[in-house]
Amino acid sequence: MITVFGSINMDLIATTARLPKPGETVAGNGFSTAAGGKGANQALAARRAGRTVHMAGAVGRDAFAEPAVALLKDAGTGLETVKQVDEPTGTALILVGGDGENMIAVVPGANGTMTPADADAAIDAMKEGDILMLQLEVPVPAVERALAAARAKSVTSILNLAPLIEDAPRLGRLADIVIANETEFERLAGQENMGTADREAALKRLNAETGQTLIVTLGADGVIAIRDGVISRAKGLKIEPVDTVGAGDTFCGYFAASLDEGLDFEASLRRAAVAGSLACLKQGAQPSIPSSAEVANEL
Ligand code: RIB
Repeated sequence: MITVFGSINMDLIATTARLPKPGETVAGNGFSTAAGGKGANQALAARRAGRTVHMAGAVGRDAFAEPAVALLKDAGTGLETVKQVDEPTGTALILVGGDGENMIAVVPGANGTMTPADADAAIDAMKEGDILMLQLEVPVPAVERALAAARAKSVTSILNLAPLIEDAPRLGRLADIVIANETEFERLAGQENMGTADREAALKRLNAETGQTLIVTLGADGVIAIRDGVISRAKGLKIEPVDTVGAGDTFCGYFAASLDEGLDFEASLRRAAVAGSLACLKQGAQPSIPSSAEVANEL
């Protein structure tokens, strides 16, 4: 069983031929809304991968509350630990340029009300061997408590160090498994402008120091990871991205689901990388998360 403790957002998405520079206005050529939030996206990915998934998070009492969890609900994700609060549902303002790259501003709203008590409630319902998945879009004290409670209960914790916040390196040390992109990993390792050899050396050093499993996502270049001193690599698919929003979340959710299903580490990385690639082929974070059958077709 997987519990995702994290953010739920409504994504407001504008597409433009190219992304604006600071202070510049560009014409948009499309607008849509879609359910998002790193936590909710990861929960849906793990659910579409075929696992039992519970979401712990918060929404408001506004018009976005229902659509923000609609796809999670349709997919059969457990929503009993999603609370409704007086703050507005979290929103993300997203610009997607013609090359598929994006810019995002997140307004936490209800996500900012998540507390250590919410973390306790979510982890109370878990048992040894379950998987807890977290990101950094809810308040740090809640994330910290969830990680400590998971450790006390021998629940496997997976922390996605996104978005990058000041506490990321400290929190990163508290998880069993850390998933980071290149920039987030540099912050965790305390070293900038890493080349391939630097990254591999840093992975070996951190793994030896902490015993943690570490995974670095490298965009089109796939992933590099270390577990028990052994370096692994996995590639996704060769694709022309339409919209990369949610691709990292899809990777995280599929990775957690694959471990939960009992796949070995390397197979889990490859399945997650393929799922992440497929998520770049459609617009919108949650609408683009592939089904397990779509991923299996590409393996
Ligand atoms: O990782 C993508 C997500 O980041 C979006 O769905 C948006 O809501 C932001 O949280």
